[in-house]
Amino acid sequence: MANTATFLFICLSLSMPSYLQVSLHAMAQEWPGGRSTRFYDFKVQTLRVTKLCNTKEIVTINKMFPGPVVYAQEDDRIIVKVTNETPYNATIHWHGVRQRLSCWFDGPSYITQCPIQAGQTFTYEFTLVKQKGTFFWHAHVSWLRATVYGAIVVYPKTGVPYPFRYPYQEHIVILGEYWLRDVVQLERQVLASGGPAPPADAFTINGHPGPNYNCSSNDVYKIDVVPGKTYLLRLINAGLNMENFFAIANHKLTIVEADAEYTKPFTTDRVMLGPGQTMSVLVTADQPIGKYSMAIGPYMSAQNVAFQNISAVAYFQYLGAVPNSLSLPAKLPSFNDNLAVQTVMDGLRSLSPVNVPKEIDTSLFVTVGLNVNKCRSKTPQQNCQGTNNGTMAASMNNISFVKPTISILEAYYKKIGGHFTEDFPGAPLRFYDFVNGAPNSAPNNTQAINGTRTKVLEFGSRVQLIFQDTGTVSTENHPIHLHGYSFYVVGYGTGNFNPQTANFNLVDPPYMNTIGVPVGGWAAIRFVADNPGVWFMHCHLDLHQSWGLGAVLIVENGKGEMETLPHPPADLPRC
Ligand code: C2O
Repeated sequence: MANTATFLFICLSLSMPSYLQVSLHAMAQEWPGGRSTRFYDFKVQTLRVTKLCNTKEIVTINKMFPGPVVYAQEDDRIIVKVTNETPYNATIHWHGVRQRLSCWFDGPSYITQCPIQAGQTFTYEFTLVKQKGTFFWHAHVSWLRATVYGAIVVYPKTGVPYPFRYPYQEHIVILGEYWLRDVVQLERQVLASGGPAPPADAFTINGHPGPNYNCSSNDVYKIDVVPGKTYLLRLINAGLNMENFFAIANHKLTIVEADAEYTKPFTTDRVMLGPGQTMSVLVTADQPIGKYSMAIGPYMSAQNVAFQNISAVAYFQYLGAVPNSLSLPAKLPSFNDNLAVQTVMDGLRSLSPVNVPKEIDTSLFVTVGLNVNKCRSKTPQQNCQGTNNGTMAASMNNISFVKPTISILEAYYKKIGGHFTEDFPGAPLRFYDFVNGAPNSAPNNTQAINGTRTKVLEFGSRVQLIFQDTGTVSTENHPIHLHGYSFYVVGYGTGNFNPQTANFNLVDPPYMNTIGVPVGGWAAIRFVADNPGVWFMHCHLDLHQSWGLGAVLIVENGKGEMETLPHPPADLPRC
């Protein structure tokens, strides 16, 4: 088994174009156990593409869409030189990589770095300390992630097998959303309008919309399968504003990994991934020879939101299937099937018992949801297209996050005052029936407070965070992502969080980096704040992030040698 793993790994390495990857063997290592250093050259470049009968320029890495795959092994060091050859601002975030003592290379614009401006270069360097599985990288500036994304696949160390039957082959399956408009302009227009965002023009699977869309019957992704064999699919939701169901016609999916951590195998007919979530599933080609649809469709838990409702289809095609035959349709749940989402969540358990913090030093209660601010514009027709003629916003504890004009990490590290405050509240300013609305609900007071507020955590503190969805405007499932950490999802439920009745799993909860807080419900997470830095915590729906659904956690340095954030790199971009 171990040999097969190594063999597969080498094959994958060799099949990579050599200009993308050079692998060096152990040099001086900062980290014990780091085996190799892998270098990548990322050029941010525009590319003319034709999709949906429409030709436009999209922003890419190395003119690839989706972008190049970063392959590595656990504990490897990754060095990526990013050169921006477009007129847009750019940064790259390595989603799910915990960036142990390397916060400077995390990537969110105005949080840990200024954007890489046109013509500039920045080299990201980090080590995959005790991390393996399916991750992804994406732009973390405006809505550029719409086309600037790619997979990160990290294999176990040589000789370490998977905890499941070795798959015959593996494939990366990235869910995305495609807009015909310029996405940077689109974000600006949406914010200026005060109203909602238009739906994507298409969902995509590895960049392909598939046969349900206009002009796309040949723009389809396909996996050829050998009857009887088992495949590992590395699912990644890189979409901007939508959560999605995924299913394959007549085939079961066995989840073996979520957010790049192994899980107890859980077999299901479909899964749901919010943007920012990854999941590896095993699929056995155990059905009659044929052509089967692999489809994604919307999960929209909010009320009164327009969304794309055409599913993107790819093919799971058996060897020997009639090439031009119709594919068997996949059964996707209806767009509002909350139960289907809960069933998948209930199935996620860490593979083995885990070390969950039992005592808590810092307990935070954070509401997540939308707001409607009063119209302040002299041209309300243009700028106040939100609910009740207001402007849409979003918040945590009713504070709508405003990005500063320099990086918070730099301001914090160099003690430059005036760019952020340290008064993010550990609980909402007032408690009420969050889910059912009153009193902070339309048509009552739905106003948010603007601020660039951070919460400072002592090094090593054991933190519990309860996220509570609010019904202001509409309840909704929010995929909340925390940078710099994975956390144990110890509990979740519907309604308002009630400590008397909440049930916590402190034995084998999943270890994740993005948690879909149930619609009209709550989720509780725990982690030890042992990675110093400035860490963004936000809704991974970009629209909500733009509206302010985020906050920043600052983790102080500890006393020990490996507990202090190093100096910034010399080429850190300037604002
Ligand atoms: Cu994948 Cu801050 O994001």
